[in-house]
Amino acid sequence: MIPDKVPNENVFHGSMDLKKEAHIPSFEKYKEMYVNSIENPDAFWGAVAKDFFWKTKPTGQFLDYNFDVTKGEIFIKCMEGASTNISYNLLDRNVYEKKLGDKIAFFWEGNEPGDELTVTYRELLKKVCQFANVLKSQGVKKGDRVSIYMPMVVELVVAMLACVRIGAVHSIVFAGFSAGSLCERILDSQCSLLITADGFYRGDKLINLKVIADEALQKCRDKGFPIQRCIMLKHVSSKPVEIVGAHSPPAKRSCPDLQEKQTGKVKKTRPLLQQVPWNPEVDLCWHTLMHGASDECEPEWCESEDPLFILYTSGSTGRPKGVLHTVSGYMLYCAATFKMVFDHQSDDVYWCTADIGWITGHSYITYGPLANGATSVLFEGLPTYPDVSRLWEIVDKYHVTKFYTAPTAIRLLMKFGVEPVQKYKRESLKILGTVGEPINPEAWQWYYNVVGEKRCPIVDTFWQTETGGHVLTPLPAATPMKPGSATFPFFGVIPAILNESGEELEGPSEGYLVFKQPWPGLMRTVYGNHQRFETTYFKKFPGYYVTGDGCRRDEDGYYWITGRIDDMLNVSGHLLSTAEVESALVEHKAVAEAAVVGRPHPVKGESLYCFVTLTNGVTYNQNLEAELKKQVREKIGAIATLDYIQNAPGLPKTRSGKIMRRLLRKIASNEKDLGDISTLADSTVVEQLFQERCSTAM
Ligand code: WT7
Repeated sequence: MIPDKVPNENVFHGSMDLKKEAHIPSFEKYKEMYVNSIENPDAFWGAVAKDFFWKTKPTGQFLDYNFDVTKGEIFIKCMEGASTNISYNLLDRNVYEKKLGDKIAFFWEGNEPGDELTVTYRELLKKVCQFANVLKSQGVKKGDRVSIYMPMVVELVVAMLACVRIGAVHSIVFAGFSAGSLCERILDSQCSLLITADGFYRGDKLINLKVIADEALQKCRDKGFPIQRCIMLKHVSSKPVEIVGAHSPPAKRSCPDLQEKQTGKVKKTRPLLQQVPWNPEVDLCWHTLMHGASDECEPEWCESEDPLFILYTSGSTGRPKGVLHTVSGYMLYCAATFKMVFDHQSDDVYWCTADIGWITGHSYITYGPLANGATSVLFEGLPTYPDVSRLWEIVDKYHVTKFYTAPTAIRLLMKFGVEPVQKYKRESLKILGTVGEPINPEAWQWYYNVVGEKRCPIVDTFWQTETGGHVLTPLPAATPMKPGSATFPFFGVIPAILNESGEELEGPSEGYLVFKQPWPGLMRTVYGNHQRFETTYFKKFPGYYVTGDGCRRDEDGYYWITGRIDDMLNVSGHLLSTAEVESALVEHKAVAEAAVVGRPHPVKGESLYCFVTLTNGVTYNQNLEAELKKQVREKIGAIATLDYIQNAPGLPKTRSGKIMRRLLRKIASNEKDLGDISTLADSTVVEQLFQERCSTAM
């Protein structure tokens, strides 16, 4: 399955220096380990598990599972009988056993250059214990769900690991999501507590996060789910902030810390946070609670298959799915992929630019790096603020050795040319990584030639929220790279390519990407809806986990992801379901029907092109366009920005009434070759849509 030999020509290698110290120094070694991981998983993963602390040892085989819906319920179990605590392994073990107490866990770099902090492993352990005690004092118990809605600050890591310490289940919601999206996620996972911040800056823009969080909590109340507690971290408040509380006198209703003078470097030109709404019946101040909390907290020992966290990802039926990961398998998989894919060495400074609100941040900012005792950069800001050199300035400032980002960021920076990159030396860089969508060869070349100066291998890591960690990826010192290919499977992962009838294709071929057996990090269920888990991932092809991606295998055995084959869009490396956007559109009274497709976009990968059929009597105009745009942003969040809206008197449908999205995609990108249209009910609709298509974005 893995070829014996990989080509020597038309491939890239990166620096030979890496091989000297690499964990996996050659393709032969990779292949040998791969075969071992498949034939002898107990021995392979047992060796990984040895590095961690187990309160009790596993009793059965390493993995137990059923992948075939026709044989009964789908289940995946890893290391049954074992118990552990991840925060203990990420923190106490590193501090006390590995003597890394004084090692820096995070260099925090704020949105504003000059705003910086360092946190050692010992300090992180203390803060996590303190906050774990805070959570306990607020009545949070093992198994309870806690929602976290915070910017990229160290306290976000503290909050998540404090949950882990007491066996509570975190559900992090990316701080760019709207009040409606936050409310939906709180309700779905029935969270008993919300942790948020006053606000944060994205470049020049102030986001009043607490205002949005409050709106979400109000929505929850309106739907009969009153959340009793909300802990707010003061992060950006300007000088004395006015605290607006409805019911009590000023002395009682304040969060004391908010009254402090701002000592940071808030630029005068930026808008300042003037008001923080405060509801004394619900709101609690992070700093006040921490002040009195003990910094010792015995970890709660958890079973291997106890829930660890829920993270929502878009689903093709509109409602997001709560992807559930569990304790032992996820920890081992994050730890092993981080170590081998980034070839982690103890003196590395690693930086992943993702937000912790996405799976990349969960696995490769928090869990993977800390499990390896790594030093990371935690960055709050944007690649373009205050200017487009920011990333490279930070690389030089902290001597970053391993750098992980998304194709959309690379394409964005490419537009500004090489000069902003070359202003900085980047000599420390050894390995570059990408994730989120297929990287186009042009962006790959630029990343390789300009950023890495032909010295750094690029690990193009294919994976999903569901897979927990990398599943197809090069290993930096072992795998010859082809620009745009995620190359070969990670250990324990068996990919296959199926045709429409579910037959496995051999050799060079193209079709559905599936996996034939689980690995430790695969999701276990959709929270509260196991049936949806089975239907989404296991029903189409019994016996396989279906990724939803198309894939091609070339003559050398390399895997190339060709993109989603379901109704999912990938905008800037984040999945959005067409159904989710459509349902936000049809909620507007002027819209009778809506269909959304992706149109290729040079930076974002895909942009949102919407066809709307209006209700009788409504005329289309710019006001309506602005309203629709606003409505979708408010319903879903800033990632759902509509780029094109076309007034469509009719939509192309099959005779049975199904919208033919394939044709809408062609119209959106002005491709006249329509292929087979024999099922189309009325072809005049298509001609009209072509004539009236939008050629420029709004
Ligand atoms: C989807 C998963 C995994 C973290 C970020 C996104 C696409 C992801 C690659 C890659 C080609 C990729 C796939 C996948 N994708 N990485 N290296 N090459 N496509 O997580 O939101 O769960 O999205 O992102 O389409 O299914 P996600």
